[in-house]
Amino acid sequence: MEEDKQTAEHIPVLAKTLVEQINLPQEAVMVDATIGHGGHSFLFAKQLSSKGIIFGMDVDEDSLSKAKQTLKDVNCRVVLVHSNFSQISEQLGEHGIEKVDFILADLGLCSAQITNENLGLSFQTNMPLDMRIDKRLQHNAADIVNRTDEKSLADLIFKYGEDRASRRIARFIVSYRKENKITTTGQLAGIICKALGNRKNRSRIHPATRTFQALRIAVNQELENLEKLLASAPKLLNKDGLIAIISFHSLEDRIVKYDFRQNKADGIYDILTKKPLISSKEEIDENQRARSAKLRIAMKR
Ligand SMILES: C[S@@+](CC[C@H](N)C(=O)[O-])C[C@H]1O[C@@H](n2cnc3c(N)ncnc32)[C@H](O)[C@@H]1O
Repeated sequence: MEEDKQTAEHIPVLAKTLVEQINLPQEAVMVDATIGHGGHSFLFAKQLSSKGIIFGMDVDEDSLSKAKQTLKDVNCRVVLVHSNFSQISEQLGEHGIEKVDFILADLGLCSAQITNENLGLSFQTNMPLDMRIDKRLQHNAADIVNRTDEKSLADLIFKYGEDRASRRIARFIVSYRKENKITTTGQLAGIICKALGNRKNRSRIHPATRTFQALRIAVNQELENLEKLLASAPKLLNKDGLIAIISFHSLEDRIVKYDFRQNKADGIYDILTKKPLISSKEEIDENQRARSAKLRIAMKR
């Protein structure tokens, strides 16, 4: 959730843990629902023969070109699609794939996306306020902050950012926009800092962190998309097929936890991670993003 000094190089989180936990049959079909720069897929490709398939999805075309580059020499077949993972069933169907052995989703963003001007996600660097990872989406973050009424804005910041100061932040945003349109991340971060005053010094995270998270989730409909992916998975997985989800904040992790629990209760999944797997201190020292990562794995019965 936090925005730190990011390098353009994306280091896949919990990569060692994943490959230790998951051994794919050589001819497996794997869906990397968030292929990003292809780091995780590259590691799993080593387990696959030329009959295996990696089906990679991403909403960001830049990520897909990076993944193409990373995976250019692997042995297995690679199919890359520019699509939201909420469309996983439709996309697999279009490619003639009915069943898969492994679904991986590493939620959130690649490091390079946070500093990418075109995406407008950073509160550390001033850039146009956008936040759409998929440019095909109609509404961006500027539309939300300039058009949403105060109460709904406060509710949104509270629901998706879990910020207890949501009402105050919404009030400051609405008061500011009476005079000026909010068009940049710098303006928005400034308004939030003003609303929260010296809270910045007391809290470990930047005052804008939670509001930016809330807007990003709302713009990209992140939680709804995750729910759709999880709802599609049982029908797509072969017997003994695996689903692994890496989440980065409690809202996502809660959705995954309850989905796996429900599927267990319905006799569909066995849960392989009683508690979510987290990164070692060494991994966190090397990669700040790993700090909040949680990995849950389930197996189709
Ligand atoms: C954390 S990165 C994945 C990094 C990747 N595991 C690697 O090792 O390089 C997350 C990626 O998921 C993409 N993404 C986020 N939400 C998505 C969605 N609903 N459908 C498809 N891709 C999504 C982002 O654009 C980003 O490229």
